[in-house]
Amino acid sequence: MQIHTSIAAFRSVRPSLGRVAFVPTMGNLHEGHITLMKQATEHADTIVASVFVNRLQFGPNEDFDHYPRTLESDCEKLERAGVAHVFAPREADMYPVAQTYHVDPAAEHITTLEGEFRAGHFRGVATVVMKLLNVVQPNVALFGKKDYQQLMVLSNMVRQFAMPIEILPGETVRAADGLALSSRNGYLSADERAEAPQLYKALTRLRDQLHAGARPLAELEREAMDVLRARNWEPDYISVRRREDLQPPASPDDPLVVLAAAKLGRTRLIDNLEI
Ligand code: PAJ
Repeated sequence: MQIHTSIAAFRSVRPSLGRVAFVPTMGNLHEGHITLMKQATEHADTIVASVFVNRLQFGPNEDFDHYPRTLESDCEKLERAGVAHVFAPREADMYPVAQTYHVDPAAEHITTLEGEFRAGHFRGVATVVMKLLNVVQPNVALFGKKDYQQLMVLSNMVRQFAMPIEILPGETVRAADGLALSSRNGYLSADERAEAPQLYKALTRLRDQLHAGARPLAELEREAMDVLRARNWEPDYISVRRREDLQPPASPDDPLVVLAAAKLGRTRLIDNLEI
C-alpha cells in the first residue's frame, strides 16, 4: 500500500491505476469505514482511500481541533482491507491558500435537518469532496448512509455538475446493541455509551408505530423526542422525510427515512433508518 501526502504525489501515480473506487474519510477508522472499503473491491481493481480532517466542514464551536487523528493505525486497517493507495494530504497541500471558492449545495437541501443545526457544514463537505474527486478522479465513489443527507447532497452535486463518477451508498454498520458506529462514539463516557443505543431504539420504535398506522407523523416525531428528553438527551430533530430529497413526505407512496440528531452529554450523535 502506498501513502501519498501531496496532490502532486497522488497525481503522478493516477495514470497507472486504471479503474478506481474511492472512499473518502476523515480517519479514525472503524468497521463502518472498512465495510465501505470492502464493498469498493466489488467495483474496481484499485481501491483508493483518503484520510483528511477537513477544516471547512467544522463550525467554529465544533470539534475540529479535537477530532481524533490516528493515521498510523488507520493505514494498518486500510492495508488489511485491501486498499492500494491512501491519499492523506497535509492541510497546507489541500488548502495552500484560503479556500475562497466553494461548492454551494441547493438551499433546500442544506437548510434543513443537519444543515439547520450546522450552518456551512455541507458547503464545506461539498467543497472538499469536489476537490478530492478532482485529485483522485475515481470511476466510483462510496459514501455511507450513516450520513444520509451528505450522501444525498453529494449525489446531487455529481449529477448536476455532470461529473463522470458513480456514487454508491453503503449500509450503516452498527454495534451489536444497535448504536451506529462513529468516530464520535469515542467521546462517550461509559455511562453515555450504555445509553447511546436509545437513539436507534427511538427510530425503530417510530418505524413500528408508523407501520401500525393511525397516528399522525408529527405526533410520533414529537413523542420520540420527548422520550429521549426524559432520558436526559437534547434532541435537535427526529423527522420523517422522503428518501429522495429529504423534504417532508407529500404522497403516501413516497419511500421514507426517519432521521435524528441528539446530544448526549457533550457528544452529538446522528442516525437514521429507512422505513
Ligand atoms: P467520515 O465521518 O470519516 O466518514 C467517511 C465515510 O464513512 C462516509 O461516507 C460515512 O458516511 C461513512 N460511515 C461513517 N460511519 C459509518 C457507519 N457506521 N456505517 C457505514 N458507513 C459509515 O463523512 C466524512 O468522513 C466526511 O464528511 C467526508 C465525506 C470524508 C468529507 O470530508
